[in-house]
Amino acid sequence: MSNMNIKVKKVLKLACLEAGKIILKNYGKKKNVKSKGNNDWVTNQDIIIEKKIIQIIKRTFPDSSFIGEETGFSNASSNITWVIDPIDGTNNYIHDYPFFCTSIGVLINNKIQYGAIYDSLRDEFFYASKKRGSYLNGKRIYVSNIKNLSDSLLCTGFITSKKSYAKNNISNFRKLVFKARSIRRDGSAALDLAYVACGRLDGFWELGLNSWDTSAGVLLVEEAGGKVINSVGRRFDILKNKSLISGNKHIVKKLLSEIKADEI
Ligand code: IPD
Ligand code: CA
Ligand code: CA
Repeated sequence: MSNMNIKVKKVLKLACLEAGKIILKNYGKKKNVKSKGNNDWVTNQDIIIEKKIIQIIKRTFPDSSFIGEETGFSNASSNITWVIDPIDGTNNYIHDYPFFCTSIGVLINNKIQYGAIYDSLRDEFFYASKKRGSYLNGKRIYVSNIKNLSDSLLCTGFITSKKSYAKNNISNFRKLVFKARSIRRDGSAALDLAYVACGRLDGFWELGLNSWDTSAGVLLVEEAGGKVINSVGRRFDILKNKSLISGNKHIVKKLLSEIKADEI
C-alpha cells in the first residue's frame, strides 16, 4: 500500500471510531432534536460528530476541502475533498431504531478514491479504495450473484422532506413489490449501499440523494464488483446525480427497466 493509502485509511478509521463512540454514548437516550426544514431533522450529535471528524482529518490533511451535511462546503487549496455524513439514518437514531452509520467519502480531483462506512452498533467497518477492492472488517467483500428479481432482496428509501421524490418512488415501489422476493426500507442510504456491497441486499435504489449519502457507498458497491447507475442508465455521478440504482449487474439491469425518476 502506498503512503497516501495508508494515511487516508488510518484517518478514515480513526474518524469513524471516534464518531461511533459519540453515537453509542448517546444511543437510547433522549436527543435534542431540531428541524432543518420540512420533515428534516438534526440532533446535537450530528453536529458534534461532523466537527470532530473534520478536526481529525485536518490533523493529517490540513489543506482539505469538505462537503459536510451539517457544516456545508469549504474550499481549500488542495485537490482532496472529504464528503461527510456524520449520522446517516438520523431519524432511526432519534427513534433508537438500530440502523444508522457514519459515512465518509474521499474525492481526489472530484473523483471518488476512498470510502468508509461505519456501523458502530455492530462494529462493522466497511472500507473501499479505488482499484483495490471493498472490505468489511478487513475481509474482502463482493456483491451477490442473484440473477432474477423474483429471488432478490431489495431495498429503497423515500425522501419525505422532498415530497416529489417520495411520490415518484411510490410508483416504483408499487411496480417492484410483487416482482422482488421482498423489499426493505431501512432508512440509511449509506448503510444500504454497504449492504449491497457485501451481498446482504441484491439491489438498492432511491431518488433525491445527496453526495454525503452516496459517496462512500458508491465506491464500496463498485469495488465489490457491482454497478451504480442513474435513472437513465449512465454511471452514477456522485456530485451531480440524485437518482441511484445499485446492485449486482443482473439486478441493476432489471431495476433500470422498472424505475422512473423526474430528475437524473
Ligand atoms: C437520510 C437517509 C435515508 C434516506 C434519506 C437521507 P440522513 O439521510 O439516508 O435513508 O432516505 O434520503 O436523507 O438525513 O439520515 O443523514
Ligand atoms: Ca444522509
Ligand atoms: Ca445525516
